[in-house]
Amino acid sequence: MDYAYLSEWAGLLLRWLHVLTAMCWVGASFYFMGLDQSLRPPADGDPLVRGEQWAVHGGGFYHKRKFVAGPGFVPAPLHWSKWEAYWTWLSGFSLFVLLYWLQAETYLIDPEVMELERWQAVCISLGMILVAWGAYDLLCRLPVGGNGQAMAVLGIAGLALAAWFSTRVFSGRGAYLQVGAMIGTIMAANVMAVIIPGQKKMVAAVAEGREIDPRWGGWGKQRSVHNNYMTLPVIFLMLSPHYPMFWQHPNAWVPLVAMALAGALVRQFFNLRHQGIAMYDYWLFGAVIVAVVAVFLAPPRRAAPAEAPPFAAVRAIVAARCAECHAPRPANTGFTSPPKGILLHSAAQIRRNARLMEPQLRSEAMPPGNATGLTAAERATLLAWIGAGAPR
Ligand code: HEC
Repeated sequence: MDYAYLSEWAGLLLRWLHVLTAMCWVGASFYFMGLDQSLRPPADGDPLVRGEQWAVHGGGFYHKRKFVAGPGFVPAPLHWSKWEAYWTWLSGFSLFVLLYWLQAETYLIDPEVMELERWQAVCISLGMILVAWGAYDLLCRLPVGGNGQAMAVLGIAGLALAAWFSTRVFSGRGAYLQVGAMIGTIMAANVMAVIIPGQKKMVAAVAEGREIDPRWGGWGKQRSVHNNYMTLPVIFLMLSPHYPMFWQHPNAWVPLVAMALAGALVRQFFNLRHQGIAMYDYWLFGAVIVAVVAVFLAPPRRAAPAEAPPFAAVRAIVAARCAECHAPRPANTGFTSPPKGILLHSAAQIRRNARLMEPQLRSEAMPPGNATGLTAAERATLLAWIGAGAPR
């Protein structure tokens, strides 16, 4: 079977798995953050219980209690939350390899940003992921790691550096996903390298009747709080390939950082609300940042073209520059079906898709990596035609 066809299937199955496991992971993570923040002192004054919560859900009442120093015995069965995180990373990283590494020429490399061979791009991408985890993990272990506000500032600074560097070496789209992969890896590594080992120590201590060192739980808590704030930014980055207006901007790293900050602020609002504190300023501040980004990215107003270019010229450009991929049976061997189902091989399809072509052309997202060498004049012709209402 054709490699491109199999790769489509691999992409679909991995994406399906990735979205599903990520929903389970984020769902469990948000649930426990919310639970932790709504715990109240136990009504019966049990000294082992740090806090408790009553809930009604799914046709019954639940009584949840948190034992920070352990319940005094090892409960069995004991539920662990880890496979959601591991599978999210495994499926996400495989998808990243399949698209951004194995098809680096389409998704990761833009020769106008930097001329890279595929192996060079892959080495930089992997190196950035490893450095990000190493630097973050080190900061967490230093005294500053215990200072939440300082870590927030350092986190934003680190993100800005990563985003700036990434947009200087990769295609805009690749740069955004690269930063997303770095944050996602930090989140999964937090679970695997810190949270779960700390919990294993806690369980072992309870089994041996030793006292639980509060630092073990503290380290885990620190990392889960960080993961919580990284969730909205990382989901934004995973959705960003659909929105070239972000990553095609000449200073694409600026809106990346701003949107991540907005996401973290909105998360902060919800975290406080779970504690019964309604601080609408966080939410509002996040919304203001998003509004400023929208203005920052707004395309310049275009003067109406004096005369629409003839459709024959448009058709010739599209046939030469777009149709090798956007046809029912693409001539480009990288595809077995038209990408995103967009057909541009006939006059009727070109007219029908004119509105969808506009943002892709204006932002220079298409052709990807300018694979077919669309010239600036041709791009202007297509945009002028669309701007004039795509006449016949
Ligand atoms: C080398 C192959 C290739 C060429 C050439 C190409 N495209 Fe695409 N096109 C793609 C791929 C791949 C996608 C899907 C991107 C994604 O996964 O988001 C796409 C997606 C699109 C979309 C849909 C975007 C969306 O998500 O809504 C439009 C519209 C589009 N292309 C227009 C064009 C136009 C116009 C041209 C010519 C100027 C062109 N393409 C040339 C590969 C190509």
